[in-house]
Amino acid sequence: MSRMPALARVPDQVVSLSDHEAHARTRLDDNAWAYFSGGAADELTLRANQQAWDALRLLPRVLQPLAGGHTRVQLLGRTLAHPILLAPVAYQVMAHPDGELATAHAAAALGAGLVLSTQASLPLETVAHAMLTEPGRGPLWFQLYIQHDRGFTRELVQRAEAAGYEALVLTVDAPTSGARDRERRAGFRLPPGVRAVNLDGLPPPPVVTLGPGQSALFDDLLRHAPTWDDVAWLQAQTRLPILLKGVLHEDDARQAARLGLGGVIVSNHGGRTLDTAPASAHVLPRIVEALAGGMPVLVDGGIRRGTDVLKAMALGANAVLLGRPYIHGLANAGAMGVAHVLRLLRDELEIAMALCGCSRLDQATRRLLYPQAA
Ligand code: FNR
Ligand code: LAC
Repeated sequence: MSRMPALARVPDQVVSLSDHEAHARTRLDDNAWAYFSGGAADELTLRANQQAWDALRLLPRVLQPLAGGHTRVQLLGRTLAHPILLAPVAYQVMAHPDGELATAHAAAALGAGLVLSTQASLPLETVAHAMLTEPGRGPLWFQLYIQHDRGFTRELVQRAEAAGYEALVLTVDAPTSGARDRERRAGFRLPPGVRAVNLDGLPPPPVVTLGPGQSALFDDLLRHAPTWDDVAWLQAQTRLPILLKGVLHEDDARQAARLGLGGVIVSNHGGRTLDTAPASAHVLPRIVEALAGGMPVLVDGGIRRGTDVLKAMALGANAVLLGRPYIHGLANAGAMGVAHVLRLLRDELEIAMALCGCSRLDQATRRLLYPQAA
């Protein structure tokens, strides 16, 4: 945190999201780097996410009418300037002193949606205020981890509603963290002063004395882990639409649809939970097919280029979320850095659309993808 000059700007030679990543490595200490960039275990899923987008081929179309083209999409009853949202990422003050506030300013200025993490390092009201005052802003959603104390969880949801959040993103793929080898090797610790401030006042879980043969995971940590019943409970607590984040199995997606949820986010948590889970790009078409247009499908994991965004839309996604890349932008130049990352990705998306003969994203269908031998 202390290495940052007060007025950072993005160096001229940083022209892509991978350039941002390389530059961010020089600005973050080993501790923060292990947290932000790491995945679970052997990081097979982390790598697979990006490789899966890379491996898809877009087939150009020529001489299509392109004048008046745009990246606008409809999502949950709103028109968005483009289909890119910022995924919930915890503890952003560790990347830059302005943390989630900088992210919110950049998202608002660039018309990107923002999903604030339950484990944000700044108050959810402060972040909402920064976003809501911008007329051209995208959607503002709150990511919820159901806490062991359901009363506290309900109050957290009420706070989010009162602050102006427009949907809840219920993350369900991380009842426990994955085996975070990289964090353990680095001896990762939250720096002093960085904490999940929106969980202040959460009563500690009752102390459990484990009997012989009992598991610290199943018999203690996961005693209060949410189930489908809690999703129904949450629906009864809130008037906001709920999107389920971390869905990879078609049956889970169908269950979300049966409950009348607002949407699903196909995600493996950026490879941070179950290592060897499939790449989100591979799973996306199956979920789209299973839901058959019944509810919005979003996707995240490994999106690093405008071509990746177009590929996701071609596979049936309604929007995409970006995780680590905007944290790199944040580390590099605060709000300016996040805005730069968003600008790059959106410009690349427009270029990819134009070269594929699409003037609108509803023209992005599987026909854009070149069929390849498996
Ligand atoms: C995350 N992610 C995450 N998800 C969530 O629901 N709540 C959270 O608090 C966090 N925190 C978090 C921290 C860090 C450092 C990372 C990298 C990720 C997962 C995130 O929302 C998203 O699913 C992935 O980051 C998407 O993959 P990419 O874009 O990082 O490859
Ligand atoms: C993570 C948690 C906060 O991925 O979701 O670090």
